[in-house]
Amino acid sequence: MNNPPQRVEHQLTDKGYVPVYTTGVVEQPWSSYSEADHAVWAQLFARQQQLLVGRASDEFIVAQRAMAMSAQRIPKFDELNPILRAATGWELVGVEGLLPELTFFDHLAHRRFPVTWWIRTPEQMDYLSEPDLFHDLFGHVPLLMNPVFADYMQAYGRGGVKAHGIGPEALVNLTRLYWYTAEFGLIRQADGLRIYGSGIVSSKGESIHCLESAAPNRIGFGLERIMRTRYRIDTYQKTYFVIDSFEQLFDATLPDFTPIYKKLALQDSVAAGAVLDTDAVFNRGSGEGWLADGDV
Ligand SMILES: [Fe+2]
Repeated sequence: MNNPPQRVEHQLTDKGYVPVYTTGVVEQPWSSYSEADHAVWAQLFARQQQLLVGRASDEFIVAQRAMAMSAQRIPKFDELNPILRAATGWELVGVEGLLPELTFFDHLAHRRFPVTWWIRTPEQMDYLSEPDLFHDLFGHVPLLMNPVFADYMQAYGRGGVKAHGIGPEALVNLTRLYWYTAEFGLIRQADGLRIYGSGIVSSKGESIHCLESAAPNRIGFGLERIMRTRYRIDTYQKTYFVIDSFEQLFDATLPDFTPIYKKLALQDSVAAGAVLDTDAVFNRGSGEGWLADGDV
């Protein structure tokens, strides 16, 4: 008999919280969700839907409508997969928690998106330190319906497998790209800046902060610029990078990154809140509320 899927979370040790990794793919144990789990989904879904009007990118809204996830009950991966497969050939796979980098990249390279099967508790509505079902499913999955973004994510996965073979510095460079695009990216539309990054889309506070606060920098996308830039995992981002289109993102990430990694290895990294002379600046952040250290 198979064991039921586990809820794998970080652990508190004498060195503070440490992430715990898990590798397996699991069936979504849908019937094990409690009424409280469904209620957390429904509340977060309703709250973000309201916030995302006029804030999320048109592509996100279109993709989300096409996918038609249930607002009241936690969606079944098995019911979303035929819709996603028909649109772009991607599929969701259930996982128990954070994956090691190479495992994660390998899934993306094969058009499989790992979705954490468990959802946060009512006490964690506003923040938790690792991805859960709401972040993964509400935040990441809709844009996989978009053919260009879907191709970008696969190319990213292939690039990840390659970077893993090159070495840790290349991986650091590549991870920053994911962070500043798939997680915290903004896009410029005719009617203004909009959100597409899932770390923002799934967060109430950051959905407002990233567009409306004077504190953060908003800077035009640059591949090498992003790959050099450290980031925050414990606060809102100090800098958001703005793309013009998903085509721009896909085209910029088509070339082999190997020579770029070599070049970047000779340069210093850039602080999360820095603005460079070469930047296309939409907003120079006031820096209000920024902590001085803690960039990763
Ligand atoms: Fe994520």
